[in-house]
Amino acid sequence: MCGIVGYAGYQPAAPFLLEGLQKLEYRGYDSAGIAVFSDKVRTMKSQGRLATLREKVDAAGGIPGTLGIGHTRWATHGAPNDINSHPHSSMTGRITVVHNGIIENYIPLKEELQAEGIVFRSETDTEVVAQLFDKLYDGDLVGTLIQVVGKIRGSYALGILCKDYPDTLLAVRKDSPMIIGLGEHENYIASDIPAVLDHTRNYYLLNDNEIAIIKADSVELLDLDRNPIHHDVYTVDYDISAAEKGGYDYFMMKEIKEQPNALRTCIGSRIQNGKIQLDKIRLTEEQIKNMGRIHIVACGSAWHAAMVGKYVIEELTRIPVEVDLASEFRYRRPILKPNDLCITISQSGETADTLAALREARANNVHVLSIVNAVGSSIARESDDVLYTMAGPEIAVATTKGYTTQLAVLYLVALKFGMIRDTIPAKLAEKLLHDLEALPDQLESLFNDEEALKQLAKDHQARGTEKTRNNVFIIGRGIDYGASLESSLKLKEISYVHSEAYAAGELKHGTISLIEEGTLVVAVATQKPLYEKLISNVKEVKARGAYVVAIVREGCTDVESVADQVFYIPNTSDLFTSTLTVVPMQLFAYYTAIELGCDVDKPRNLAKSVTVE
Ligand code: AGP
Repeated sequence: MCGIVGYAGYQPAAPFLLEGLQKLEYRGYDSAGIAVFSDKVRTMKSQGRLATLREKVDAAGGIPGTLGIGHTRWATHGAPNDINSHPHSSMTGRITVVHNGIIENYIPLKEELQAEGIVFRSETDTEVVAQLFDKLYDGDLVGTLIQVVGKIRGSYALGILCKDYPDTLLAVRKDSPMIIGLGEHENYIASDIPAVLDHTRNYYLLNDNEIAIIKADSVELLDLDRNPIHHDVYTVDYDISAAEKGGYDYFMMKEIKEQPNALRTCIGSRIQNGKIQLDKIRLTEEQIKNMGRIHIVACGSAWHAAMVGKYVIEELTRIPVEVDLASEFRYRRPILKPNDLCITISQSGETADTLAALREARANNVHVLSIVNAVGSSIARESDDVLYTMAGPEIAVATTKGYTTQLAVLYLVALKFGMIRDTIPAKLAEKLLHDLEALPDQLESLFNDEEALKQLAKDHQARGTEKTRNNVFIIGRGIDYGASLESSLKLKEISYVHSEAYAAGELKHGTISLIEEGTLVVAVATQKPLYEKLISNVKEVKARGAYVVAIVREGCTDVESVADQVFYIPNTSDLFTSTLTVVPMQLFAYYTAIELGCDVDKPRNLAKSVTVE
């Protein structure tokens, strides 16, 4: 989603702003702009990639000034074009703003301002903030901001420049992320840490309804009653190279390859002497024993992790689990009881729908435990308990290590709850812990198939008709169906090849009519009790001309007589196979996208962090 940067210091602001925006490119955007203040505010913006804006700035010989704001926009109100790009200035040019989020009541505010003769240039909700600020401005910068905040509704992280304050950058947030980077004789604002990492590791996390007054040598934090606020300084504890590509062509491949280590950290730090330590959660053993129902709520891949989690948690704890898409949950009046638990899952911790679902659950007095990657994110901060996935920064829009570490935390939760509820026989618990600890090495061994999967991606694009090249089926039963959903999304989002994940038994109820000579069907068959049934489904599609690629456990060599190609995963518990079966499909999706010349890390129309509804 949109990215914000800002600079107050003694060095030229424009290079910092452009570089910071580049570090935020992963959030997804369709236009970009910067505004820099010297004798006046000069703004440059352009539709499309950041490189276009950079060319514009270079062609103008740079922009002078040591105070500035920048923005990458992902269009919500008004088309992605130069005029609607941020920053936006008021009619008089006194106020300039960048904004992430949505001003929900911008239409009545705009109409009011227009009735007073104020002329708007753009179709955006953001311009209302600049115009309103200017109209209410009485020389008191903070006082005016407080008035503005009192009038706007919705979500916002705002960076603001005022012509009367040549040394001051103003920031405020509500329901949209914002950090304040703390440098030496320079300070920064940003939507996310990578934007400032080349300059500082120290930062404040701005909370909702807090104001920051940022100058080169000071940062002042105030609440909306102008009371000073103290915040601890956070220090980034991951290496700067973790946010860079580290020699890979794309972040996605780097992140695929980081999965073994991410899992080692996520699982290893929580299993000690044969026992699971679930961080310091407030949820008591009593609550776990008396739990009525678990509601897992998430979006996209996190929802796919939840689909697998449902099978695992129900199997090990015998607690009924409901899985909801966050965007549906919040509007369907879910039946929530005080002894229920809501688990929200989010890599970014900023997904608007998941955050809203979390609030809905809490408003119904349901304890919320969140599984989150981004430390200090909104979802993490608003939850009763947080279990971090510890995957490190994930930059590629398509999640990989984010998803597999979410699965790992779900396995840990299921095991821990099952042990507390006495629903797992001791011998089985011991075996499952052992299998869990083996997963990182087992996942790593799957990279041996990388060349074969690259070739499969090439061959698939060279074979068949345009129709068969662009329609792939991924079938599985039980947990394998859950994992197939994620594999299918990976292929769709980065290569734009249409694919469907199907519960294998459901194919013959309609979809099998789409199978024709050369259709690629990936059959995931790792569940021992369902193996024979899945093989029958493979035979059904094979008989209709499908080209079948099977993903099965080591030793299931009989599948070679029915499938055209087979990939094997190491042996583990039936409950944990999704962590492994998804990896060949991540690689297949990656190489298909490469084969088709797609921008792997930044697929069209997508944003890494979806902070609007
Ligand atoms: C994953 O590849 C997707 N880009 C997307 O579905 C993502 O999982 C979803 O938007 C949820 O994001 P979150 O985990 O940050 O909440």
